[in-house]
Amino acid sequence: MTRTVLVTGGTSGIGHAVAARFAAEQAEVFLTGRHAETVEQSAKELGAHGIVCDASDPEQVAELADRIGELTVLVNAAGGLPEAGSGDGTGLDEVLAQWQSSLAQNLLTAVLTTTSVRDKLTGGGSVISIGSIGAERRGGSYGAAKAALAAWNASLSAELGPGGVTCNVISAGYIAGTNFFRGQMTDERHRALVAETHDKRPGTLDDIAETASFLASPGARHITGQTIHVNGGAFTTR
Ligand SMILES: NC(=O)c1ccc[n+]([C@@H]2O[C@H](COP(=O)([O-])OP(=O)(O)OC[C@H]3O[C@@H](n4cnc5c(N)ncnc54)[C@H](OP(=O)(O)O)[C@@H]3O)[C@@H](O)[C@H]2O)c1
Repeated sequence: MTRTVLVTGGTSGIGHAVAARFAAEQAEVFLTGRHAETVEQSAKELGAHGIVCDASDPEQVAELADRIGELTVLVNAAGGLPEAGSGDGTGLDEVLAQWQSSLAQNLLTAVLTTTSVRDKLTGGGSVISIGSIGAERRGGSYGAAKAALAAWNASLSAELGPGGVTCNVISAGYIAGTNFFRGQMTDERHRALVAETHDKRPGTLDDIAETASFLASPGARHITGQTIHVNGGAFTTR
């Protein structure tokens, strides 16, 4: 039977690579992003359905859910650093804006989207949310939001597990080839991030897409409620 896969943030970087991977596996793929042009372009490129949706906006998320029937896999990839303009100063208003932006982008996007489609997920299905190594250290408001994403995932797993749906976070280390750093990645920082890994390379989009594909596969049905670290050893759990 054809699997139906929804990928939020499927127009760029990790989400786009994951959407491409499921499309290559002959799944019917729905991808989202906030901008019509990139949504249309990505959907055309991958032979997917493109839907413009800001995953932090409840009304848009409800409309998205109305357009999707049964769902096999949900990938919550939408996220990123706090929006430009949300402030990086120390005044309370600026601090509040930055934290609200981080939480909206990296936690509420996943919570709202999952809530809106959870009843459409079929037994044997999966929810995969993209977390970050930033949850483990030096993450600021972004890392705190990704840590909350992992905590929420554990409770989601307990809720959806009896229905045969697995829920996991892929906690990504530094992944090259995304727009995440908004052109601000310096050679020095790149070298420092690579030096932290055991395999002395940046993560690739395929590293994450392969992991997502595995988590949605029959071989991964007893893996749920977990945070899977894909970072070349830059952070180890022991
Ligand atoms: N790159 C890394 O090194 C790295 C490491 C750890 C974790 N991550 C995580 O990986 C995920 C994917 O990021 P990326 O690195 O692939 O960055 P990216 O290239 O900037 O991709 C982000 C994607 O999310 C979409 N998006 C952002 N906010 C959205 C919203 N509110 N609603 C719907 N779509 C939204 C973007 O499209 P629009 O802007 O057009 O909406 C884009 O498609 C994020 O959750 C990020 O935190 C990345």
